Amino acid sequence: MTADLSLIRSSFKVVEPHGTQVTAYFYDHLFANNPGVRPLFAPHIDEQRDRLWAALGALVANLENTDTLTDMLQNLGRRHAGYGALPEHYPAVGASLIATLRHYAGDAWTPAVEESWTAVYGVISSTMIAAADAAAK
Ligand code: HEM
Repeated sequence: MTADLSLIRSSFKVVEPHGTQVTAYFYDHLFANNPGVRPLFAPHIDEQRDRLWAALGALVANLENTDTLTDMLQNLGRRHAGYGALPEHYPAVGASLIATLRHYAGDAWTPAVEESWTAVYGVISSTMIAAADAAAK
């Protein structure tokens, strides 16, 4: 992973205080660019907003605890198969996540920060997808 974890943590700290605005921006971006995934999320979207954000915080807090992180991601990936999330949805979610972080990080957003988040999201999505795949077999 070409990720600088201190950059992940410091940029997340800048974005985090914006709270529910951040997740609203994320879902608006995701659904505007990928209207096809909108039906997967109905009808619990408000509750879901906070859970995604809390999960992201927990993942960031455990970036260095490889076993815990892998465990969390595998469980999340298996549950996502049940929500109808397909492998091809993951890049779309990653693009909206990066766009959201970039929007709220302001001056804290640099090419190195973007590279780190891209690498971390690569690990998140590949671990989730592999676990969902294994569960389906
Ligand atoms: C960084 C990656 C992701 C994280 C951290 C994340 C986090 C979460 C969390 C915490 C929940 C609440 C339920 C649970 O804990 O199982 C959830 C639900 C859900 N997620 Fe994700 N998710 C991610 C990626 C995706 C992707 C790629 C999709 C594909 C479209 C997706 C679609 C959904 C759906 C459809 C639900 C259920 C919503 C509902 O009940 O209405 N997620 N996600």
